Amino acid sequence: MSHTEPLKVVGVSGSLQSPSKTTALVRAILDQVADGAETETHLIELNELGPHLAGAVQRDQLPAVAEQELQRIEQADLLVVASPVYRATFTGLFKHLFDFVGQYALVDRPVLLAATGGSDRHALIIEHQLRPLFGFFQAVTLPLGIYASDADFQNYEISNPKLAERIELAVERARPFLGRQLEVARPAWW
Ligand SMILES: Cc1cc2nc3c(=O)[nH]c(=O)nc-3n(C[C@H](O)[C@H](O)[C@H](O)COP(=O)(O)O)c2cc1C
Repeated sequence: MSHTEPLKVVGVSGSLQSPSKTTALVRAILDQVADGAETETHLIELNELGPHLAGAVQRDQLPAVAEQELQRIEQADLLVVASPVYRATFTGLFKHLFDFVGQYALVDRPVLLAATGGSDRHALIIEHQLRPLFGFFQAVTLPLGIYASDADFQNYEISNPKLAERIELAVERARPFLGRQLEVARPAWW
């Protein structure tokens, strides 16, 4: 079955800053996805959304703007999630956001993992922190993640052509997974 409606692609940047290398990376990935498919893209930036999450410990305490973003995440056909490395893992607000996402809301959902760090030393954040988190959700984490370090950017824009190539490759490898969840027949109790 092929998609007749645009693919709903939601990007999440866990950066707490603007401008942000992580947000630039997510934007580049979203643009690359949109280059080969009809998409409806939406970007969630934690530096903007974060203040709306603060203070809420239960989902029903969140303001409408945060609830709306959670629903976008839960209804996306593809998630592109990225965080800067903070103290060897994703930012606390990135985790706080996903703590509100329904436990079974992302089952079978393709998720492209990405991260930025000061150097390459924490590149395994993708395998050791991000992949297990989305494994918990039973999402389909895509085989190829994208890690970038400060040296890959100039003025918060991608300056290393090798990073651009990695984005292109990761997105091409993601394409066979897109739309797959539409073919899954859900049992009545789902
Ligand atoms: C509080 C804090 C902690 C950080 N911890 C790490 C770290 O453990 N490992 C690392 O490689 N970079 C670390 N960094 C550097 C950032 O991950 C890096 O500069 C990142 O690209 C920033 O992304 P942004 O521009 O999207 O905010 C840290 C930065 C901050 C502000």
